[in-house]
Amino acid sequence: MQRLLITGGAGFIGANFVRHVLAHTDDHVTVLDKLTYAANLKSLEGLPEDRFNFVHGDICDAGLVDTLVAGADVVVHYAAESHNDNSLHDPRPFLDTNVVGTYTLIEAARRHGTRFHHISTDEVYGELSLDDPERFTEDTPYCPSSPYSSTKAASDLLVRAWVRSFGLRATISNCSNNYGPYQHVEKFIPRQITNVIDGIRPKLYGRGENVRDWIHANDHSSAVLAIIAGGRIGETYLIGADGERSNKDVVELILKQLGQTPDAYDLVVDRAGHDLRYAIDSTKLRDELGWEPLFSNFEAGLEDTIAWYRNNEDWWRPQKAATEARYTEQGQ
Ligand code: NAD
Ligand code: DAU
Repeated sequence: MQRLLITGGAGFIGANFVRHVLAHTDDHVTVLDKLTYAANLKSLEGLPEDRFNFVHGDICDAGLVDTLVAGADVVVHYAAESHNDNSLHDPRPFLDTNVVGTYTLIEAARRHGTRFHHISTDEVYGELSLDDPERFTEDTPYCPSSPYSSTKAASDLLVRAWVRSFGLRATISNCSNNYGPYQHVEKFIPRQITNVIDGIRPKLYGRGENVRDWIHANDHSSAVLAIIAGGRIGETYLIGADGERSNKDVVELILKQLGQTPDAYDLVVDRAGHDLRYAIDSTKLRDELGWEPLFSNFEAGLEDTIAWYRNNEDWWRPQKAATEARYTEQGQ
């Protein structure tokens, strides 16, 4: 039994990870979460009280972080400002949480000699062209494009420096785009599913040709557990499930699965600095740790996700109108 401190556990991927840990291990979980607009406490309902507790607080609060890290065997750091579009309109919270918050956590982990796993993103590597035969690997140079991805890159580099300079017992993972239940309606897939449910036409940025490499959140969780159990200290592991799709393909699938004509979408103003394509080569993770994704059929995973949003309207409805109002202001 290990005591895990999971930051950002009331957000999308963190909540899926908490549920995965409680279902597949006998570990105890403490979640530290600030409950920003992106959090939803409903995502953590019904968890076993003897193995789970929730702490409302900020990862930039050094005193609180020190106390919680002292009581943990492993810190798994998901907390972040995570949405690119928001980072283009108000970058400051991204610097505070993603950079200063990560610094605050690794300083505490260094003091207490605590094992640390840092959750990051493939966006630190920038973009690929549509016809590039190469995919991102652990050796790809960092080249982030947005305020969000540059703060994530900064946080990765801080963790690497703390490993080298202070012997921090840390690993890092950089994952591709996640989908699945409990994802905020500001993000691409839930936005379009809930738009169609509400009779609103899906919105594609630019020409819809940008490619993302989709992975189910449960596969991300199993990869993180494998890295915590067997990953080598100081190493980075890329997580991906060979799920490349253009945004247009994804919207057409959503429309088809919800019984609409596949061209019932609108093209809207593009995101500034919009990365064209991400693609992950996860050979290192698969060869070293024997990890394999279980959700290799994207269409089936998307169908499950659509069913989840249809069946859990009480989870997403309170955020929907304000999210769409924000996008309307931005012309998106
Ligand atoms: P999210 O926005 O859904 O959730 C983030 C959570 O962090 C929220 O619960 C929020 O309240 C919490 N939080 C924010 N600031 C905090 C602070 N200062 N102190 C404590 N808690 C705070 O994000 P997500 O999509 O679940 O992403 C989680 C992590 O995974 C992030 O580090 C992100 O960079 C990374 N990641 C996301 C994806 C993806 O596709 N969503 C892919 C790869 C990596
Ligand atoms: O690659 C990993 C990253 O994936 C994570 O680090 C981020 O936290 C996560 O938000 C996600 O970033 P993206 O910017 O790729 O995700 P988003 O859901 O915002 O958009 C996915 C794609 O869809 C992107 O090309 C922009 C496009 N898009 C998005 C929205 C919201 C649209 O075409 N229309 C939309 O309405």
